[in-house]
Amino acid sequence: MTLIAERNSRIFSENAFKIAPHIFRVEQQKGEIIKLNLGEPDFALPLHIKNEIKRQLDLDNTKYCDPKGLLSLREAISTQINHTRGLQKTPEHVVVFPGGKPPIGLAQQVYCDPGDEVIYPSPGFPIYESFIRYVGAVPVPLHLKETANFTFPPEELAEKITPKTKLIYFNFPSNPTGAVASAKQLEDYANVILKNCSKDIRIYSDEIYENIIFDGKKHHSISSINEIRDRTIIASGFSKTFAWTGGRIGYAVFPTVEEAEIFKNININYFSCVPPYNQEAAREALENPLSKTAVQTMVDTFELRRNLIWDQIKKIPGINCLKPGGAFYLFPNISEICENLDLINKHKSLSPREQGSPAKLFQMFSLYEHQVAVLGRDSFGKIGADGKHFIRISIAAEQSVLEEGIRRIKSAVKDVSGLDRFLKKRPDMIFF
Ligand SMILES: Cc1ncc(COP(=O)(O)O)c(C=O)c1O
Repeated sequence: MTLIAERNSRIFSENAFKIAPHIFRVEQQKGEIIKLNLGEPDFALPLHIKNEIKRQLDLDNTKYCDPKGLLSLREAISTQINHTRGLQKTPEHVVVFPGGKPPIGLAQQVYCDPGDEVIYPSPGFPIYESFIRYVGAVPVPLHLKETANFTFPPEELAEKITPKTKLIYFNFPSNPTGAVASAKQLEDYANVILKNCSKDIRIYSDEIYENIIFDGKKHHSISSINEIRDRTIIASGFSKTFAWTGGRIGYAVFPTVEEAEIFKNININYFSCVPPYNQEAAREALENPLSKTAVQTMVDTFELRRNLIWDQIKKIPGINCLKPGGAFYLFPNISEICENLDLINKHKSLSPREQGSPAKLFQMFSLYEHQVAVLGRDSFGKIGADGKHFIRISIAAEQSVLEEGIRRIKSAVKDVSGLDRFLKKRPDMIFF
């Protein structure tokens, strides 16, 4: 018998958080780090939302509340979802969670029996893959193709579907690639699902970046497609749109009220409820017309930075980078850099090498020797990531900080002797 249950060896994590002690250590030793690792908008929470939190605190709205979410917030969410997706959801279809993250794993707990298969985008938000084996289900990564602008051909989705498929995750705009699927692509994906799946599967459409879209484009949700809406869970939240990652408010809108009630009971078991003063402020965020301007200002700034940083990064010899259509990340291909720095062989000679990757070696080397924090490809799904050499750069930082970050990456990509020094000094550093 062992102290810790076996299932704990089957859960992964989110490196954007796990890298923090390394950043702290380098900061202590060498001073300022350029942090381009975290998916957190560098904007303040808009004033009218802040004021509503304060007002709610003054009203002593600080007690337990409805585990499904305050009715006032669920009403605002269903109104907004119906307006933007052309649906007829009621507040009873909506469940509020402490962030956009919890319903991802909880959905696997609720829908999957051992052996059921879960299809998810890779690279993708790491929590999709992280939970699957933990709940005894089977991970089926659907690899996003650089040649298809980090989407996938519908035939590849069809190939992944089996009679055991239970959940299919979509995430557009995508973390970490910034890819945006067109309405036509979503229609093609929906047709594949309608043709190949029973009614008893669920699409989990993670639309947390729905408002951060560039080039004048509009967000499209697979839930707007007629025949598929009764199989789709729409998930979103307040962390990204309102720069409110610490507020911990997300939500999911379920195909049936019965499913929403099951998630309410899961909430009772895990969280009891989400702080009511934050929920009222989330309602304010959806209802107050001032939000539109605040969000637009943030998105315009992200778009300017995307243009600027994309232009600079693609000029670095050895780096190829697609122009993202949304979210606030760039996902450059560093295959040539891996060759130039001999990272593939150097990674092979490390032990135990299965824990890292050449891109992760580059990530740690850049952090320790050039004081710039980015994340390697295997932070966004490990299964099948071998041989895929990318890094994610978050553009959620001031322009001057971003430009300094790019300068540091530019120095790192040609620093062969620095890499050797790093490997001599810190052979253990890629393992966390
Ligand atoms: C695609 C995606 N889904 C969900 C989340 C979780 O968001 P939250 O901070 O609201 O839990 C994130 C956060 O980075 C994300 O990128």
